[in-house]
Amino acid sequence: MKVLVTGGAGFIGSHIVEALLRRGHEVAVVDDLSSGNIAHVPSGVRLHRFDICSARSGEVFRHDGFDAVIHCAAQVGVPASMRRPQRDWKVNVLGTARLLGHCRRYQVAKFVFLSSGAAVYGDSDLRRSWAMGDRTGREDLERQMGHPSHNVEVYRFGSPILDVARIDRPLLICHGQEDQRVHPRQSEELVDELLRNDKAFEYFVYSDEGHGILNPDNLRHFFARLERFLDWHLM
Ligand SMILES: NC(=O)c1ccc[n+]([C@@H]2O[C@H](COP(=O)([O-])OP(=O)(O)OC[C@H]3O[C@@H](n4cnc5c(N)ncnc54)[C@H](O)[C@@H]3O)[C@@H](O)[C@H]2O)c1
Repeated sequence: MKVLVTGGAGFIGSHIVEALLRRGHEVAVVDDLSSGNIAHVPSGVRLHRFDICSARSGEVFRHDGFDAVIHCAAQVGVPASMRRPQRDWKVNVLGTARLLGHCRRYQVAKFVFLSSGAAVYGDSDLRRSWAMGDRTGREDLERQMGHPSHNVEVYRFGSPILDVARIDRPLLICHGQEDQRVHPRQSEELVDELLRNDKAFEYFVYSDEGHGILNPDNLRHFFARLERFLDWHLM
């Protein structure tokens, strides 16, 4: 298969690039190197160095004709998100929407989306989770969406747990039991709802992990499961 990995010079994206190469796939990377490292892109892999939001990303789709896109490019830092929320929105929301538009236009059948629990699926009911996270997370949410006591409809609208019936692709959910920012109860509630709706998913909780996966043993486990997930559901 011909696969485009966005953010392929980053932490998770570069591991995925290597895994795809080991399986004999043809891989290209789009990365603006804002936090990624060019040294992480294996030689022989074409690196398109630009912002996923730019018009050039459409040209890459038109020329290369991909079978699948694995979307790892993101602005991931919470402090950066608080300093420049517009940039955060542009890359994480508009950039993702642009890529989905290219996939539709150039008939790319498969799209794999990696995201933080703080972004999409982990924070399952924002009306309750708002009070469970740490102060930074709470302030970040309030900055973006106002206080829930005034804006409960916005919080309801942004809560994936209320929209689980519409999910029609498998999810891989990994969570640290010690996560202070996105409470582990969030993923438990989401899993309950996925089960009730008979959805396909894999779910792993790391007992000694906080927000993000840092422990080397957990990381090895995570990448092994991620590779298998891609084998089962993408290739
Ligand atoms: N690392 C973790 O523990 C972890 C945990 C949960 C979720 N995630 C999610 O996985 C995804 C990847 O995370 P990561 O840890 O690999 O992050 P990372 O910062 O290492 O990688 C992101 C990559 O995207 C690139 N990038 C950023 N903005 C771009 C843009 N506008 N155009 C093109 N390239 C751009 C960066 O240069 C970088 O190479 C993110 O959505 C993140 O929230 C990561």
